Amino acid sequence: AAPPRAEWTGQFGFILSAIGSAVGLGNIWRFPGVAYENGGGAFLIPYIVALLTAGIPILFLDYAIGHRFRGSAPLALRRIAGRFGEGIGWFQVMICVFIAIYYTAVLAWAASYFIFSFDLRWGDDATGFFTGDYLRLADSSFTLDFVPAVLIPLVIMWLLTIAVLGAGVVKGIQAANLIAMPLLVVGFLILVVRALFLPGAVDGLNALFTPDFAALADPTVWIAAYGHIFFSLSVAFGIMLTYSSYRRRRSNMTTPGLVVAFANSSFEILAAVGVFATLGFFAFQQGIAVDQLEGLTGVGLAFMTFPAIVAEMPGGQFFGALFFGSLVLAGLTSLISILEVILAGVIDKFGIPRRTAVYSIGGGLAIVSILLFGTSTGLIALDTIDNWANNIGIVSSAIVMTVTVLWVRRAGGELSRHLSALSTFRVGRGWLFFVSLVVPVVLGFMLVATIRQLFQEPYGGYDELYLLIAGWGSIAIMVIGAIALTASPWRSDPERFTPWPS
Ligand code: PHE
Ligand code: NA
Repeated sequence: AAPPRAEWTGQFGFILSAIGSAVGLGNIWRFPGVAYENGGGAFLIPYIVALLTAGIPILFLDYAIGHRFRGSAPLALRRIAGRFGEGIGWFQVMICVFIAIYYTAVLAWAASYFIFSFDLRWGDDATGFFTGDYLRLADSSFTLDFVPAVLIPLVIMWLLTIAVLGAGVVKGIQAANLIAMPLLVVGFLILVVRALFLPGAVDGLNALFTPDFAALADPTVWIAAYGHIFFSLSVAFGIMLTYSSYRRRRSNMTTPGLVVAFANSSFEILAAVGVFATLGFFAFQQGIAVDQLEGLTGVGLAFMTFPAIVAEMPGGQFFGALFFGSLVLAGLTSLISILEVILAGVIDKFGIPRRTAVYSIGGGLAIVSILLFGTSTGLIALDTIDNWANNIGIVSSAIVMTVTVLWVRRAGGELSRHLSALSTFRVGRGWLFFVSLVVPVVLGFMLVATIRQLFQEPYGGYDELYLLIAGWGSIAIMVIGAIALTASPWRSDPERFTPWPS
């Protein structure tokens, strides 16, 4: 007989693991740059609006679907909306497949840089070191030459993740979060406090927080806020849904949701403070203003600008190790959750034992990720796939899911009762209003604006044919994969793991 569905040992294990998933690379290397580029201090307004009107409502929706219908994304959504619902679930699984492949690459870079921090390997040319000595981007644009400095940490990250997932939900995922999260909090707090005491820190904070209220009139700022919130909270692509399917029958739903959202936001605001205090120091050292610095966003910030700063700082080794160590812990606990979405879907549908699923699927994805990113090919594809997966994939998934579940199947009343049944505070019409009206309307508008923009000017100035293949091609593969997985026959009983009554 099939084993019963795994359960967290308690509310604490769930909350910790959900925070582990939410707090990821996005909090540390994405948020500070996004906030800075989109109005600085004024960005907090669209950010909080997006959090309250879309982030938390969808987080609750994910929780309610996963717990009430007690399944992975394809199984739970099938229970609400039949085969079409199952298809949405598999689309979410496919988004996770793509994210898993590149997320591991960034994680592997962070792991290398953690080690390099101890001898400041990059010397005094951090930028040249990253693209040249480390990634060897110049070697060629498409080869299968392995770059050992990337390959080795990439393999280690995959092995670690596979080992954790193979040990199961409680002994693997929950145990890993129990170790990683306290370490992350302590390490990160030390890092931020140290950054605040650097000379010039205040100038960095001024650069970040000086509000540019004119930015609020710019729709792209609002789009950036909504886009970031979805990625950051890990909502609308199966993660929170899957994690809450492992909760016990009698569970408080809403309070843990707020705890997770609050922890995630605190972490990223703290990250922005730490990062900009450090940038303030760097500008101070060079005798320039913070806004004259280059490389303040994305990959460049973490892997070029930060290493350069660390090299100039007294005790830089320690600072660098804390920064990259935090990235590794935050990223690893998120990667685990991404893979769990894929595994749960496959285990539920095909009835294969957990370990078999972990080794075959984890192994398969590891190979793809290693071929793409362990060679000198990787970096170009990374930001393209990241952009399409987030701004097209996740946003479409959220729209289709809310419209199908709340408008076509009208499951809103049932889900709202389920959310309120055992919770410290109840949700009602307000929640339903945001999740069924505000979310699809705002996201629909965003999606149209994003697509129009993508057709007007080629993303990142890349070649159009390349973007067609790497960007739209990725979305096409997600859709085709979702259709194929939905069409393949169930090999386990879709009725097992009976839904929890409300
Ligand atoms: N929420 C995570 C972050 O902020 C990102 C993440 C993406 C987590 C995809 C899981 C899956 O980095
Ligand atoms: Na996050």
